[in-house]
Amino acid sequence: MDKKKRIFSGMQPSGELTLGNYLGALKNWIGLQDEYECMYPVMDMHAITVRQVPADLRKRSLDVLMQYIACGIDPEKSLLFFQSHVPQHAELMWVLSCNTQMGELSRMTQFKEKSQKHADNINAGLFTYPVLMAADILLYQADVVPVGNDQLQHLEITRDIAQRFNHHYGDTFTIPEAYTGKAGSRVMSLQTPENKMSKSDPNPNGFISLLDSYDDIIRKFKRAVTDSGSEIKASPDKPGVTNLLSIYCAVTGKTLKEAEEEFDGKGYGDFKLAVGETVACELKAVREKYEYLAKNKDYVEKIYKESAEIAKKIAEHTMRKVRKKVGFTAI
Ligand code: TRP
Repeated sequence: MDKKKRIFSGMQPSGELTLGNYLGALKNWIGLQDEYECMYPVMDMHAITVRQVPADLRKRSLDVLMQYIACGIDPEKSLLFFQSHVPQHAELMWVLSCNTQMGELSRMTQFKEKSQKHADNINAGLFTYPVLMAADILLYQADVVPVGNDQLQHLEITRDIAQRFNHHYGDTFTIPEAYTGKAGSRVMSLQTPENKMSKSDPNPNGFISLLDSYDDIIRKFKRAVTDSGSEIKASPDKPGVTNLLSIYCAVTGKTLKEAEEEFDGKGYGDFKLAVGETVACELKAVREKYEYLAKNKDYVEKIYKESAEIAKKIAEHTMRKVRKKVGFTAI
């Protein structure tokens, strides 16, 4: 049998996970677990590129890891750990930094956006963020990287860095491919459906947190904005209805056509309630599993410690090659 290809992806523990993270990323990750060897760390080192309250970061990082498991990332199949537990990420980042140009990094859209947003803290880590991301991926010789559109530019620079390194020092890194998942899994705000669903939405009714209660989820869907007219059809001039339909399809696996037929002739009220109930039922299981994990921290700790040990072995294998290639003295 052929060796399974390796998938690598992660999220920053920058806040609560939302329905957007679940339908846009986590559900993809879960579906890939049988076909690929998967690694899904929590990117805590990336998180400190912006100011954090240390105790909050620690809590959120663990929370994100527990939510990965609660959503269906299976610790028997995938590696779940914290980026900071494998020091080779930082080590490889240094070597790659010396093989990355300032010009390349200054073109990154996310850097430009984040340095505007955090104008009082434009630190060097914010600038070299993509190099750490490249190190994450290349360290494990990942073949495929599921990412959202906002991270495609970072994946592109990762490929450039890897190709250049391989060219200069000889074959060292696998060149990773992006995996952007199924179309239509981009979840928009329930209140301003022109914008992506985000936990930083000033209106808490705009987003569904994965740990929201059943009733809160129903309430938020009931209040979701719809569009003028009364037809339940996806179209560019009906962003609210389109978003609800696409959420419904992402959860149920139905096609848009099937969903439109199902709701044909129904009013917006019934439609919103039906979508709300579907989401609330799906997330109920997630919340229950999360609550179980929160009471069984020893079990969670065992998972991330064991995963980090395996990750370290893979990482060290790559680092031995890298140190030799660049001319460091063998220990
Ligand atoms: N930068 C990614 C994000 O904010 C998180 C991330 C860090 C990542 N390292 C990665 C994603 C490596 C994929 C692969 O979403």
